[in-house]
Amino acid sequence: MENLSIFLIEKEPNTMQLLKMYLKELDYVEIIGESEDLNNSIAQVLKILPDVIITDISENPDKNYEIIESIIDKHPTVKIIATANEYSTDTIIRAMRAGIREFLPKPLIKDNLLKSIDKFKTQILDKTKENETNSKVITVFSNKGGVGKTSIAVNLALELANITKEKVALVDLNMHLGDITTFLDITPSFNISYLIKKIEGANEDFMLSTLEQYNNTEMYVLADPPYREEAKKILPNEIKKMINALRTTFSYIIIDTNSTFDEITVTTLDNTDLILLVSAINVPAIRNCQRCLDAFDRLGYEEEKTKIVVNRYMENDDIKLEDVEKALDKEIYWKIPNNYYTITSAISKGKPVSVINNDSNIAKSYRELATNISDNIYRQSAIKIINRNPLAVLENLI
Ligand SMILES: Nc1ncnc2c1ncn2[C@@H]1O[C@H](COP(=O)(O)OP(=O)(O)O)[C@@H](O)[C@H]1O
Ligand SMILES: [Mg+2]
Repeated sequence: MENLSIFLIEKEPNTMQLLKMYLKELDYVEIIGESEDLNNSIAQVLKILPDVIITDISENPDKNYEIIESIIDKHPTVKIIATANEYSTDTIIRAMRAGIREFLPKPLIKDNLLKSIDKFKTQILDKTKENETNSKVITVFSNKGGVGKTSIAVNLALELANITKEKVALVDLNMHLGDITTFLDITPSFNISYLIKKIEGANEDFMLSTLEQYNNTEMYVLADPPYREEAKKILPNEIKKMINALRTTFSYIIIDTNSTFDEITVTTLDNTDLILLVSAINVPAIRNCQRCLDAFDRLGYEEEKTKIVVNRYMENDDIKLEDVEKALDKEIYWKIPNNYYTITSAISKGKPVSVINNDSNIAKSYRELATNISDNIYRQSAIKIINRNPLAVLENLI
């Protein structure tokens, strides 16, 4: 197997030593350069073109983002892992916008570092498997209409595309009754029915020209078939094939569903990595949510496959979130604030919420949801609880 070349940028000698020690465990890794400072390394990095750069960005992050953008501009395939002492969701969003693919808080955790490198190895050295292993299918579901599924699917997909800069497919599986084209005010040339007919041998170029790219973003829309007759002909197995085919091109596939447990929906849910189960905070909605969780259990889904998203959340609601969690025996993963004014104005203008008012609580909530869902942050939540001094670890290790 080929080697994966890494360039290390770290001022703190102990952390540098720790990095090297951890990376030694991966026999395919070759450290081809090191430096104390990102700004002074630009020329060297652009000369030796490493596969991966691991760099500290704690000091002067804005300047560092600029340098990173300029490096990626000249060496577009480079994967960048940023490390930092302090961070916030905002830092991570900015880092990802600059093209940083992984973010690891300090003190570094060996497992997280090695996992990030391993992911890049799959992408760089094992091209054929790239998308199979990395793409994530997220289905927004509820067995009730009008709870906000389409709003979530549309805005989440766009934020994921903007933040991660990876390709995102937004798929409307509300066969012949879909709303996504209305929410985005677009008229795509093709739809699910066409893609399914051409699915054999569909490659990346075909996918990118069949799905409708939204306004020069990385979000590509796949609309539902407009006619009932056409929609009726689609078989569950074809949906499965379609999802698998989409996985080869898109890093994230966001699916908007209808509200019934029909064959198409169950096939979709079966082939989904993460279900966002949407609920409002009222008794009938919570009961329905319970029924869905029971159904998922009977379908054999693991508990972690489903996350609960509360929509139209109001702080002064009579029903408390703790009570909902108790009733569902499950944690609430996300709350999207009630903001009728912003969302209706977005829907009626056919624009994403971030375009209507990027600073609104609801735009912020979709954006942070996207940040949380991207792989990078998943790992982070586990990291936060660990607090230790790297020096102390080194002393014990050596
Ligand atoms: N966070 C929110 N705050 C206020 N109103 C919302 C919110 N999300 C959705 N809505 C309202 O609910 C309606 C239904 O939303 P939609 O996304 O179409 O739901 P679904 O796809 O589940 O049927 C929208 O027209 C909008 O007015
Ligand atoms: Mg809908």
